Formats: sequence, C-alpha cells, structure tokens
Amino acid sequence: MPVPHTGPGEVDINYGDESIATVTGASSGLGFEIARALAMTGVRVALVCRDSARGASARENIARSSPSATLDLFVADLSSLSAVRRLAAEMRERLTRLDVLVNNAGVVKLRREETVDGLEWTLSVNHLAPFLLTRLLMPLLEASRGSRVVNVSSDAHRGVTLDVDDLQSLKGYDAFLAYQRTKLANVLFTYALSRRVAGNGISVFAVAPGMAATEIVREAPPWYRLEWSLKSRPASEGAATPVWAALAPELSGKSGLYLRDGAVVDSSPESYDVALQERLWVDSMGLTG
Ligand SMILES: NC(=O)c1ccc[n+]([C@@H]2O[C@H](COP(=O)([O-])OP(=O)(O)OC[C@H]3O[C@@H](n4cnc5c(N)ncnc54)[C@H](OP(=O)(O)O)[C@@H]3O)[C@@H](O)[C@H]2O)c1
Repeated sequence: MPVPHTGPGEVDINYGDESIATVTGASSGLGFEIARALAMTGVRVALVCRDSARGASARENIARSSPSATLDLFVADLSSLSAVRRLAAEMRERLTRLDVLVNNAGVVKLRREETVDGLEWTLSVNHLAPFLLTRLLMPLLEASRGSRVVNVSSDAHRGVTLDVDDLQSLKGYDAFLAYQRTKLANVLFTYALSRRVAGNGISVFAVAPGMAATEIVREAPPWYRLEWSLKSRPASEGAATPVWAALAPELSGKSGLYLRDGAVVDSSPESYDVALQERLWVDSMGLTG
C-alpha cells in the first residue's frame, strides 16, 4: 500500500503504477476533488458518474492537471439497484483489482421521493448503493493487499438514531433528518463491514469532510445556498481527509475508524451500537435483494 504522505492536504505519494482507486460521485464537489487529488499521486482512478457528459468533462479537467494519469469513466445512476449491479459487473470486467473504493456520491432531497425500486431516495443513494456496490466489489478489493474502503459520511450523523421500523421515512419525512440518518448509516455500515473483512486485510473508514462548498444543497433556495457557500471551506479542502483515509501509511493495518480533519475521532454514541449495526446490515441485505 501507500508510501510517504505528510498529512491531509499535503499529499506526496508514489502509490505505484498498478494501484487503482474508484470514486463515486466524481463529477462534482468533493468526489471530483478526491479523484483529482488521487490522480495527482499517480493512482489510476475510476470515476463513477451519473451523467456521461458531466463525467467526461470531469475526466478532461482532471487530465489537464494530471496529464499522465490513467482515468477510467463508469456511468451509473446509483439510485437504481440494477444500475449498481451493472456498474459492479462492468468494473469487475474492466479492472483487475481495487486498492481504494471511495463511496462518496450523496444527495439531500427536499421532498420524499422514491427510486425506480420504490425505495426512499436518500436512503437508496446514500446508504443502499454503497452497501451493495461495496459487497459486489469485494473480489476486486480482495485482489489487492491492504485495500481500503472510504465511506464519506458527515458530522451531521451526530444527534440522531435510526428508526429501524421506518427506514424509508413512510411515517413522515424531514429532509435534513433523512440525510442525517443516512450519514449515520454510513458509519454503522463502516463498523459492521470492518468486522466482516478484518481477516482479508481490507480497511474500512468513515470520513467527515467538514462543511464544503459543493452542490450538495442544490435543491435548497438561493439564499440558503449562498449562506452555505459562505460558511463552507472549498471542496478541495473538504477532500483532504477522504484522500488521507485512502492513502495515509499511518492508517495501514487500522480499520473501523471515524476520521475528521486528518485525525481519528469518536463518532456518535449511537454509531457504536452493535445491535443497530447488525440490524441495519440485515435490513440492507433485504432491501438490496
Ligand atoms: N458538502 C458538504 O458540506 C458535505 C459535508 C459532509 C458530508 N458530505 C458528503 O460528501 C459527499 C459528496 O457530496 P458533495 O458535497 O460533494 O455534493 P455534490 O457536489 O452534490 O456531489 C454529489 C455527487 O454525487 C453524485 N450523485 C448524486 N446522486 C447520484 C446518483 N443517483 N447516481 C450517481 N451519482 C450521484 C452527483 O452527481 P451529479 O453531478 O450527476 O449530480 C455528484 O457527483 C456526500 O456523500 C455528502 O453527504 C458533504
């Protein structure tokens, strides 16, 4: 796995020619910056984007800053479970291994909407898609020694718990609460997965990028978006801790950790509830078929 690296935001790594990373939601925001930073270290990066034109434009932009980078583009709408399955199959066909999987794609939905699978949208894109994708990509992750799964969560996971009897917010929908719960689900999934893959040399981290000026609040009114961007750090800074999680040698051999601002910190008390982690795992298996 990786070699020298000085800390978040100061990536200086020769990761090796054959190393491959995948970043979901790489067309904009944090995902774009994470993919760009990884490409700059010499890692081959597979960009997963919902829209082919936006994906191609992201790939061109990254190629401009890293002309020698090898960049693959995969197009998939992660709100569809069959699209997630097709994506995983295509990746297993085109890639020989995976050193890093960054589950970054995410949404905030102002109103409750359902996906083609009849699932609440936020839950499906933010939690079920990475849950399914990661499990389907296990053969590629296992083909690399010391691979890493980086789940982009958020400090917004604090102060909430899951309503396991209403994962799909059928009883009532609050946009921010639904988002918060999916970010808690990212942490619960991280710990449950970490236990399961401990023997395979795969590390699993949940990461809080901090408030970053991206398109995450794209559905909010203009005044809110403006206020958000004024309070936020640039997306390139928000990408620093996810990139650190992906590459830092000091994290080698570690797993099941929550990372923020280039350090290991405690996640919320609810996230350490093993019964809740396992219940979510079983329910997610059911919901993803
Ligand atoms: N920004 C923050 O302050 C902040 C703080 C904490 C955590 N986060 C987390 O960071 C992650 C990235 O968000 P961001 O802030 O960078 O927001 P963003 O700019 O809106 O980026 C989200 C990315 O996810 C992709 N995406 C959304 N729905 C998708 C779908 N159905 N299929 C495939 N891709 C889809 C988007 O693709 P399109 O370009 O096609 O829409 C975009 O590339 C999220 O998981 C978010 O929860 C963000």
